Amino acid sequence: MVTQPERNLILLGAPGAGKGTQSQRLSQRFGIPQISTGDMLRAAKAAGKLPADLVAKMTAGGLVPDEVVVGLIEERTKDADAANGFLLDGFPRTVPQAQSLDAMLARRDQKLDAVVAIEVPRELLMERAVLRRTDKRTGQIYHLKYKPPPPDADLEHRADDREEAVRTRLDTYASMTAELLPFYEKRGSLKRIDGVGAVDDVTARLYTALKLS
Ligand code: AP5
Repeated sequence: MVTQPERNLILLGAPGAGKGTQSQRLSQRFGIPQISTGDMLRAAKAAGKLPADLVAKMTAGGLVPDEVVVGLIEERTKDADAANGFLLDGFPRTVPQAQSLDAMLARRDQKLDAVVAIEVPRELLMERAVLRRTDKRTGQIYHLKYKPPPPDADLEHRADDREEAVRTRLDTYASMTAELLPFYEKRGSLKRIDGVGAVDDVTARLYTALKLS
């Protein structure tokens, strides 16, 4: 039986957990946009519109200020393609960001339908991030070991996917989730899924958690 997807969704997970990979699938299948603050920040950087101090912060693996990403989300979720819902990938990352999202949804008389955390042990995350490559033209995510790119792909290696920056990002995520996961857990909206295994298997777990078929 085909059930209606839950609409306003958040995918949480450490760097390399598979948020982008799974968001692209969910977004295509259910016709809601994947809204990634990381992608938006990288696009602003590529366009020369991200201030140098924020570029340096991102490259080193730190977080950009809450007000910057909250502003991006406020604007992007007003676009017509988000009228029937959206999938947030990489936002919120802090409790103040989560509170800003709550306030924004309340102002718009909308609600959050589900928060899913993709869980992967730290030792696998490093390999996933360091060997990731993205096709600049299509945005398709590849992995040199697990999902090799086709020969004609125009590959990009993210500036923050160097080992040292990934380590910082993993540490940042660990300290951030210490507050963020309990924030959603307390209100009963958090679902956790195992992110280890084939991409299709993780997708199946995600659909089960979201009660999708
Ligand atoms: P962002 O772009 O959000 O990066 P991230 O959270 O670190 O997550 P990643 O993109 O690294 O990983 P992912 O979970 O999407 O994994 P993917 O699917 O690509 O943020 C970047 C930076 O922007 C931050 O560090 C911060 O500076 C700034 N920023 C962004 N949002 C912010 C916010 N809200 N507040 C403040 N600052 C913010 O998969 C990884 C690899 O693994 C790929 O190669 C993929 O092919 C492979 N893979 C995926 N699934 C599997 C699987 N099941 N098996 C094997 N390989 C797999």
